[in-house]
Amino acid sequence: MKVLALVNEKGGAGKSTAAINIACAMHRQGKSVVLIDADPQGTARDWREASPSGLNLPPVVALDRPELLISSIKTLAAEFAVIDTPAKAEKMSASVIRIADVAIIPVQPSGADVWASAAAVKLIQAKKDLGGAIDAAFLATRISSNTKLSKQILSGEWNEYGLDMLDTAISNRVAYAQALTEGMSIYETRDGEAKGEIDLILQELEVAGWL
Ligand SMILES: Nc1ncnc2c1ncn2[C@@H]1O[C@H](COP(=O)(O)OP(=O)(O)OP(=O)(O)O)[C@@H](O)[C@H]1O
Ligand SMILES: [Mg+2]
Repeated sequence: MKVLALVNEKGGAGKSTAAINIACAMHRQGKSVVLIDADPQGTARDWREASPSGLNLPPVVALDRPELLISSIKTLAAEFAVIDTPAKAEKMSASVIRIADVAIIPVQPSGADVWASAAAVKLIQAKKDLGGAIDAAFLATRISSNTKLSKQILSGEWNEYGLDMLDTAISNRVAYAQALTEGMSIYETRDGEAKGEIDLILQELEVAGWL
């Protein structure tokens, strides 16, 4: 099983939104994928509970205790696991990074988000230092292309962390919040540009050999 995790200790960074839409995109491509809700807050579970019946969505499994996650993830039959990680949960973040093959750190264009991402970078670096294999990158989220902060984050000038950022960013679009609220993915909305963003993220991960 290949494990892709969305991590950032910062609350509201866009982890659940990215995890849900990436898992849905993979599922739509015919990949065998399970979305793991590692957050006791249960956003991914609530999202799935809110889903209208008949939609073609991936299964969601709750593994929201660190030990349980590590012991149980291997028992899942899927080819891919996408983990939605909680904020402010050091032990869970460490467990997620331990089992992740790929870590994506969503980061919004603000100092608070950038600074908070350091904790995830540290965990990734610690795994690498111990000889562990993990591919990792930032993912700029909630971008508004006309703002200075968005331009700054997209230019990479803030990035002193030694990790690349994905070329594709997730823009600030009401469709993401609307879809999440209605238990859908971005693919069930009419926002073609948002669908294009998630498509490109998947393409980038595939080209990098991370999926
Ligand atoms: N690209 C976006 N455009 C518009 N709204 C967004 C976008 N990404 C996230 N949001 C909204 O921002 C809020 C936080 O997003 P989300 O739940 O994905 O973050 P999170 O990192 O999972 O938060 P938490 O740390 O609480 O788990 C939600 O209300 C979500 O709908
Ligand atoms: Mg969340």
